[in-house]
Amino acid sequence: MPLVSPKEMFDKAYGGGYAVGAFNVNNMEIIQGIMQSAEELRSPLILQVSAGARKYAGQDYIIKLMEAALARTDLPVVLHLDHGQDFDICKEVIDGGFTSVMIDGSHHSFEENIRITKEVVEYAHDKGVWVEAELGVLAGVEDEVSAEENIYTDPDQAKEFVERTGCDSLAVAIGTSHGAYKFKCEPKLDFERLETINKLMPGYPLVLHGASSVLPEYVEMANKHGGEIEGACGVPETLLRKAAEYGVCKINIDTDIRLAMTATIRKYFAENPADFDPRKYLGPARQAVKDMVTHKIEHVLGCKGAA
Ligand code: G3H
Ligand code: 13P
Ligand code: ZN
Repeated sequence: MPLVSPKEMFDKAYGGGYAVGAFNVNNMEIIQGIMQSAEELRSPLILQVSAGARKYAGQDYIIKLMEAALARTDLPVVLHLDHGQDFDICKEVIDGGFTSVMIDGSHHSFEENIRITKEVVEYAHDKGVWVEAELGVLAGVEDEVSAEENIYTDPDQAKEFVERTGCDSLAVAIGTSHGAYKFKCEPKLDFERLETINKLMPGYPLVLHGASSVLPEYVEMANKHGGEIEGACGVPETLLRKAAEYGVCKINIDTDIRLAMTATIRKYFAENPADFDPRKYLGPARQAVKDMVTHKIEHVLGCKGAA
């Protein structure tokens, strides 16, 4: 099955009141773990690659790994660029075969964000590629850019932004943030704002970044075996489920993959100090990714059997 566009996937998700998981991939084990889970549960899937992941693995390797994965499945899978910073990187991945890109102009002024998003939309649409943009700023670290504070998305601006740029989906800031330390006190998302955006743009697919729930079992496992991940806190799963009721069709998950792998590898090292065969610890790490993704599909995304 060739890579697909998110269009049909999001139409179905919107109508079905569920979200599709967009999982960040960096290497073979991550791709395999995610694919195995989605295959078993017949779930649609978005695999996304950040600029850092692209630099780490190489775009050619990622594409070849995806080809290998797709040769084994008939699942609909989207290959998406996560947080593209400028036109050039979007163009390079579009030319390389990605079916969806994010142009992230959220750190620029409103007008500059519109300008660069439009530029990418023109190029991408010409090639049938989907464009996600972002308005508002999420706190936390993404690649080279980090932000101290959230700047929540203004609903009226969101409508104007989508009308003027023609982007296909929009990432909104409603209180989530990237990384493992999302909330200092009680986790809270601005659902009133999300509902307003949804009402202003009925039928339009919204995206939630920074949507890892930072599963306590993996934080505890890592810390028990030498980790120092103190005070980690993610988005409660009940809130993520609720987001799908307000037009959120894509939920981004990276930190939960990192935690599942790292905790599993730490445990393995602590329990098997004499082992040095990478397959011995990367195998369980891959299984942990698969188990975590299965949990997400069944209990957070609601997309089991939707493929
Ligand atoms: O939004 C950030 C993603 O978690 C990607 O992280 O840029 O370190 O690959 P990365
Ligand atoms: P998390 O850090 O919550 O996993 O968010 C990932 C993300 O938004 C990737 O774009
Ligand atoms: Zn993100």
